[in-house]
Amino acid sequence: MTQLPRAISPKLFLAPMEGVTDWAMRDLLTGLGGIDQCVTEFLRVTDNLHGDEIFYKNCPELLTGSKTRSGTPVFIQLLGGKPEPLAVNAVRAVELGALGVDLNFGCPAKTVNRHDGGASLLQYTDRLYTIVSTVRKAVPAATPVTAKIRLGFDDPNACLENAKAIEAAGADWLTVHCRTKTDGYKPPAYWEWIAKIKSVTKIKIVTNGEIWNLADFERCHESAATEDYMIGRGALRDPFIFNNIKKLFSDLEIKNSQHASFTTLKPLLPKFYEASSTYRNPEFAVARTKGWLKQLSFTASEFNEMFEQLKVITKPQEFETQLNRFQ
Ligand SMILES: Cc1cc2nc3c(=O)[nH]c(=O)nc-3n(C[C@H](O)[C@H](O)[C@H](O)COP(=O)(O)O)c2cc1C
Repeated sequence: MTQLPRAISPKLFLAPMEGVTDWAMRDLLTGLGGIDQCVTEFLRVTDNLHGDEIFYKNCPELLTGSKTRSGTPVFIQLLGGKPEPLAVNAVRAVELGALGVDLNFGCPAKTVNRHDGGASLLQYTDRLYTIVSTVRKAVPAATPVTAKIRLGFDDPNACLENAKAIEAAGADWLTVHCRTKTDGYKPPAYWEWIAKIKSVTKIKIVTNGEIWNLADFERCHESAATEDYMIGRGALRDPFIFNNIKKLFSDLEIKNSQHASFTTLKPLLPKFYEASSTYRNPEFAVARTKGWLKQLSFTASEFNEMFEQLKVITKPQEFETQLNRFQ
């Protein structure tokens, strides 16, 4: 493994993933350590101000200082195409205690794009500028306003002008998922675009996309050379990845810098089930635990067997009993 410069330990973000990284998953993953920052799943904004209950549902951490129980800060992510409603909702989020507001310009979902949100906005640099600057001006100066983009809608060159506009609009940092909307989630991620963005802006960049293991991280770090990185799907298959990345930069013993295996990961499942149950309800917990098990089946074949056995069970009590049998 190549030796990385040890001077600066990267700041590591857990990626927002709608339907996946809810309160329960953020709580579990940040509890293992190594994650410096979370962002909520996107909260769609159309014309109106959301009721407070919607903000609390999206980000229950608002009730705990906008930090997970292990102390990791959580920003609220908003998605929409209208500057004023986004600003009004951002201000309310901050009034309720949000530590920062992230703006989603990366979502590729057809329904979202059809309704003028997410990645479709990457085609309109001036609109990105107006949205970010309107939200930036509305939110107190001390509260970060950040943005998350893809390289472009279909043309990766768009990231250069878009990043410049987002910087000019006053965003505190910019997360770049290194693929276009058209690329979807198809590998590879084009980390080489980060250097090009850095050559035209000074904005702090968070590099994102296709970091599944330490070798990916090292290649990404060599290519992008940013201080900050965001990991999404890789964290579901190896929740220890954050600590293991941190370990590359430190000689100190790091808690939970474990290797992802059936033995190290299976004790997390009942905890996750319980947390999801508390967060919503047992039926929800069954569905979410199955979803995570499916991801874990890529990590160890034993999880695949477990998934095959548990996927047919719908009754929460039976599911929980069977889940515990594997411990
Ligand atoms: C199921 C799923 C849901 C996602 N939801 C969001 C979201 O709510 N907000 C957002 O900015 N990105 C969202 N993303 C994109 C991720 O944050 C991330 O940019 C992408 O997965 C690439 O990173 P990765 O290769 O580390 O997973 C989602 C991705 C997935 C797979």
